[in-house]
Amino acid sequence: MKILILSRNSTLYSTQSLYNAAVKRGHEVQICDHLLCNIIIEKNKAELYLGLDKMENIDAVIPRIGASATEYGAAVIRQIEAMGVFTTVRSEALLKARNKLHCMQFLSSKGFDVPKTGLCGGDLYAGMMYEQVSKDKAVVKLLASTQGLGVILTQSKNQGVSVIEGFHRVGHDVMIQEFISDAKGSDIRAFVVDGEIVGAMLRQALPGEFRSNIHRGASSSIVKLTKQEKDIAIKASKLLGLSIAGVDLLRSSRGPLILEVNASPGLEGIEGTTKIDIAGKIIQFIERKLDKQKQLK
Ligand SMILES: Nc1ncnc2c1ncn2[C@@H]1O[C@H](COP(=O)(O)OP(=O)(O)OP(=O)(O)O)[C@@H](O)[C@H]1O
Ligand SMILES: [Mg+2]
Repeated sequence: MKILILSRNSTLYSTQSLYNAAVKRGHEVQICDHLLCNIIIEKNKAELYLGLDKMENIDAVIPRIGASATEYGAAVIRQIEAMGVFTTVRSEALLKARNKLHCMQFLSSKGFDVPKTGLCGGDLYAGMMYEQVSKDKAVVKLLASTQGLGVILTQSKNQGVSVIEGFHRVGHDVMIQEFISDAKGSDIRAFVVDGEIVGAMLRQALPGEFRSNIHRGASSSIVKLTKQEKDIAIKASKLLGLSIAGVDLLRSSRGPLILEVNASPGLEGIEGTTKIDIAGKIIQFIERKLDKQKQLK
C-alpha cells in the first residue's frame, strides 16, 4: 500500500510513529508538508502536486493537520477526497471538530453534556453573559486556544469581564465556560480508532494549576474508563464523522462532560503513557478499510 502522511514536520513524534508503524507493516510511506501541496481543479478532474510532482497511485492518506493550517489542510484533504483516495480524516469533520464552538454546539444539540458555555457579541453583554454561566468562578477561553494558552480561570464577574474586554480589544472572541471544579485539575483523553477506544489517559495539572495540558507541566497516567465514558467518546467521534479522535472529558458530579474532540490527536502522550502502539492500530484500520473497499469492487 502507498500511504501519504500530511504533516508540516516529518520529525514530529506522531509523524514518525505513524511512518515507522506503516513501514514495519510493509507499506510504502511518503511524508509531505500540506502547505507545499498544490491543487489543480478542472471539470471532473482533481489533481494534487507536491511542488511540481504530481501525486499519483496513493492508496490512503493520513492527514496530521495542525491548528495553524486548518483551512489549507482541509482544502488539500478535499482534493484527496475528490481523487477518490481514502483519508483517515474527512475535510468536513476536521473543520467541524477544529472549531471548538461549532463542536460544542453540535455535540450539545446531540444530547451530550458539556460545561455550560456562553459567547457574547461584544463588551456590552459580557457581564450579563458571565452571570448566566456563573456567580463566581468561570473559565474564559479564547476560541483559538491551544496547549492551554488563552484558557483563564477567573474568580469573579468583574475579573472575568476585564479579561473578556481585553481579548475583545485585541480582536479575539472568547467563550465563558462553567468551571468544573470536580475535575480537580484533571481531564481524560480517550483515543478512538475506528469506533473503539484504543487507549486512555488521565492528565493531572501541576499543584495550583487547573489546566491539565502536558505543555503546562501536567503529568499523565493510565486510566480505566467507565462504560459511560467509553460510550460517550465513541458516539461523539462517530457523530462528528471522525474515525480517529482524541476525546477530552472532564469528570464531574453530574457525569462525564465533553470538553473537546481533537481530529488530529497527538500520539506522544498517549503512546508514552499507555505503551500501546496506537500508530500501529491506525495503520491496521487503514488496511481493514482498503480491504473492504477492494472486496466491494
Ligand atoms: N470548563 C472547565 N472547567 C475545568 N477545567 C477546564 C475547563 N476548561 C478547560 N479546563 C482545563 O484547561 C485545560 C485546557 O483547556 P482546553 O482543552 O479547553 O483548551 P486547550 O487545551 O488550549 O485547547 P487544545 O486542547 O485544543 O490545545 C483542559 O485540559 C482542562 O484541564
Ligand atoms: Mg485541551
